[in-house]
This record gives sequence, C-alpha cells and structure tokens, in this order.
Amino acid sequence: MTTTLGTKYDVGGVLLDRPFKIRRLGHFGFNVVNMDEAKRFYIDLLGFKISDVAGFFTQRLTDEQRAKLKSQEGGFFTRHNTDHHTFVLFNKQAMDMLRGVEYNPVTINQITWQVGSLQEVGDAAKWLSEQGAPLQRVGRDMPGSNWHAYVNDPDGHTNELYYGIEQVGWEGYSKPRSMYNRGFREAPELPQINEFQEVQDALSEGIDLESGYRHIEELEPKYDVQGIKLPRPFKITRIGPVGLFVDDLEDAVAYYRDTLGFEVTEEMQHEGERVVHLRANTEHHAMTLAPMSLRSKLGMSDHTTSAFFGCQVANYRQLKDACDFLEENGVRVDRNPPAALRPGMDYVAHVWDPDGHCIQLYYYMEQIGWDGRVRQPSERRPVAFQWPDAVEPLPDAYNGEVFLGPWG
Ligand SMILES: [Fe+2]
Repeated sequence: MTTTLGTKYDVGGVLLDRPFKIRRLGHFGFNVVNMDEAKRFYIDLLGFKISDVAGFFTQRLTDEQRAKLKSQEGGFFTRHNTDHHTFVLFNKQAMDMLRGVEYNPVTINQITWQVGSLQEVGDAAKWLSEQGAPLQRVGRDMPGSNWHAYVNDPDGHTNELYYGIEQVGWEGYSKPRSMYNRGFREAPELPQINEFQEVQDALSEGIDLESGYRHIEELEPKYDVQGIKLPRPFKITRIGPVGLFVDDLEDAVAYYRDTLGFEVTEEMQHEGERVVHLRANTEHHAMTLAPMSLRSKLGMSDHTTSAFFGCQVANYRQLKDACDFLEENGVRVDRNPPAALRPGMDYVAHVWDPDGHCIQLYYYMEQIGWDGRVRQPSERRPVAFQWPDAVEPLPDAYNGEVFLGPWG
C-alpha cells in the first residue's frame, strides 16, 4: 500500500496530508459466544445502556442453525453517553454462521472513529480506495444514523470512520424505526438535509418520536457516587484506548500511522517484544499495537486478537470501587497489569469479560500538548503495587475529553 504524503488536502480549510482527520474513538464492539453472561457483564455490571436490540441477523439463520446457538440473542447497541452507541455486543456464533466461517479470531465487531464532517467521510472513502485500503461499504446505518465508511486493517479488523451519530436525549428514546428511511447503502450525494429537518419531516408525517427503544435500568440505585445514587459505584465516562495483537507489527503500525493518520506516541518493550502506542488527539494513546507472539506471554486469551478495550471511569475513587464491585460480582480483576500496556495511565485494572476479553479500566490519561512532547518514563511517578487510598494530582489530572451530562 502506498500513501501520497506530501499532497495536501483541504480539510475544512486546513491543508492536511490526507482528506480527513480522526478526532476520537466513537464506538467499539465485541462479538461474543457467551451472550447472556456478556449482557450481564457489560449492561448490569459495567453500566452500558441498551439503545437498540439487534435481532435482525439471527432471523436470517435457518431453524437448524439457530438450534446450535448458545444464546438466541442477536446483539445490542449500547451507550455510556448520549451517542446512540459507544459499545456493541453481537452474537459471535450467529455472525460466523452467517458468514460461513468456522474459526475467526477477530472478535472485535468494529473500531469506529469520528471524523469532522460528512464531507470528510466521503473524501476518506475515495482516498482510502485510491490507497488500496479495502473498503467494505459506505452509507448510513440504522440504528445509529451515523454516515460512514468501513475499511479493514491488515489483520481484518473493521475500522469505521463516521460523522454525526444520533444523540439520545434526557427522554432516553432512540430514533424510531419508522425514521429508518434515511438509511443509505451507498455514498450519499452532498449536501444532505440536516437532522433537525429529518425530525421535522418525521413530525409532519405523524411519527411518534417516543416510539423508539428506551432502556430501563433494572438494578437498584443503591450506591452514593460522589453525590448521585447509581446502581454501581462508578460511571464509565469515556471509551478507548483499543489494543490489538497483530500478525505483522510493521504493517499494522504503517496502516494506522500512514493510512489512518495516527501519531506514534511511545514504544515500550515487554519480554523482548515491541508494543507501539499511537494517538489521534491529545490523549497519550488511542491505539496500542502489539505482535501476536506477545499474547501468550501476557497470558491473554488466545481466542481473540483484542489485547484490551479501555474504559475510563470518572475518578480514582471510582476506579478502586469498580474493582471491588466487579470482584464481589465474580469478575476476575488484575490491579497490576503489565506496564508496557499502560504507559501514561497511572493506576489501571484489567478485568475480563465472560468470553475472556480484557477490559482496561483507568481514571487518568496523560495529555500530549501542541509540541507533541511525551513525558519521559523517569518523569512519571511510580505506581504502587498496593494501591493508595488517594493519590497526589498529576499536572494533567482530570484534563482531556470531558464527560457531558449526568451520570445516570
Ligand atoms: Fe459502527
């Protein structure tokens, strides 16, 4: 694959090396075999709220195929903020059956990045094709309403670039299915009408705006979480970073750096293997790439190419309480994961979902400023094996992407 670096593209009036700029991780997903247990883990324990139920693809299976499924649930779109979905959970057995695949170590459903405009999505799709990056599809998916382009990385992970995901408001309703007529299966002609106009059109057609899915929290809100009663003693306030095990580290780094435009922040070594951390914005890293040969050395599950999925909680107190809460609920918790997987992150816990995916919980992420300077390892404070009750602030504590709106 070649990249035409040096050619400048006008991205909203700023001349960049490629015609789009990834701003943040928008959503992520796993395909799991143990759907019912995973639903308890991600919804009840971690607190993602269901925004829509995806029964559509299990319906495409034959009766004989369906009988072989461990769970009849197709999947769930879920969110931790007002984005329609920030985490999706799909039935791996059903997906593999539909694709006719026997063995599939890619259990990541998608890695989805927000770009800055609908124009950027279209220009990215065209440019990626020209670079020889395999483009899966473009258009606008419902549920979620985000305009997108899907591309594969060299290891077969689906990356999605999007603009404008549906926002779920205080009423808690997702967009009703009767508004799905604005879905697209091809690149849209530009310009498109804006979303307010879509809602006005729906109202004039007599569509009930409160007929979409609405999540009901079933657990008792018995925890006082810094002044708000919640069903769990913490709140996930941000998603990412994403960690991948890859077959060819050089290829993967080149793809994420040169094709998608990430910047390499820091390289670490673990048991003689390189681990590369890359960023899209001011966070120390949004992506971590490690060679496949490191997976077993880290004791990670060999069923998946996912190294971890990061979830940030609101503060250090919540991180400690989350670990205790998850342990009380039978989840495996490791409070001292390998340093190579968490530079710039201070105190971190790895917890495991029922299929064996690692979730990386943390509260602090080092921020990189305009000059791109990264704190040297010697400038970082040592992380104590026994976690302290409280920690001294770092200069960039509580900086970076801010959570908007109430916690529950
Ligand atoms: Fe997506």
